[in-house]
Amino acid sequence: MGSASPRSHGLLFSLLLLLSFVVHQRPVRGSDELRALMELKVSLDPENRLLTSWTREGEPCRGDFEGVACDESGKVANISLQGRGLSGSIAPAVAELEGLTGLYLHFNKISGVIPREIGNLSRLSDLYLNVNNLSGSIPEEMSSGGNHCCRSKN
Ligand SMILES: *[C@@H]1O[C@H](CO)[C@@H](O)[C@H](O)[C@H]1NC(C)=O
Ligand SMILES: *[C@@H]1O[C@H](CO)[C@@H](O)[C@H](O)[C@H]1NC(C)=O
Ligand SMILES: *[C@@H]1O[C@H](CO)[C@@H](O)[C@H](O)[C@H]1NC(C)=O
Repeated sequence: MGSASPRSHGLLFSLLLLLSFVVHQRPVRGSDELRALMELKVSLDPENRLLTSWTREGEPCRGDFEGVACDESGKVANISLQGRGLSGSIAPAVAELEGLTGLYLHFNKISGVIPREIGNLSRLSDLYLNVNNLSGSIPEEMSSGGNHCCRSKN
């Protein structure tokens, strides 16, 4: 013992580094939602001009994120960004926000297609996408969900 070669020290170090990375990456409460929100931000506001309050260091459920409201279990429930001049697109990552009940993105300049994945949001009841530049239609999954979706047009 104690006489390990520098090479094995190097190996051990790499291993520890890898381990600490893996441990660090383990999802902590809310971090998946934070990542999804950041993906959504990059797509909606690619130049980071309008959603500057959405940051990786922020706490979406403590009111740090403009337009984001959470439910009592700490999951994102509403995203209200109507009429903010957003000109990007909607990232499919939005569908990872499982607790989403309302997505209000009307009166913007959003283009691209409505991600099909949105159809998997079982609690989504209010989807406002009208007055944008979106193509495609509301995912079929939504109308089959039995909720009163969709007060939405594009
Ligand atoms: C989300 O929006 C709906 C409709 O405006 C509202 O009834 C509900 O209380 C909101 N939820 C939260 C957590 O803000
Ligand atoms: C919806 O969720 C199911 C089950 O998690 C998955 O297999 C499917 O690919 C999802 N659909 C979309 C469009 O994301
Ligand atoms: C709407 O989107 C199309 C292509 O998706 C683009 O050519 C057009 O310039 C856009 N219109 C506006 C007003 O942004």
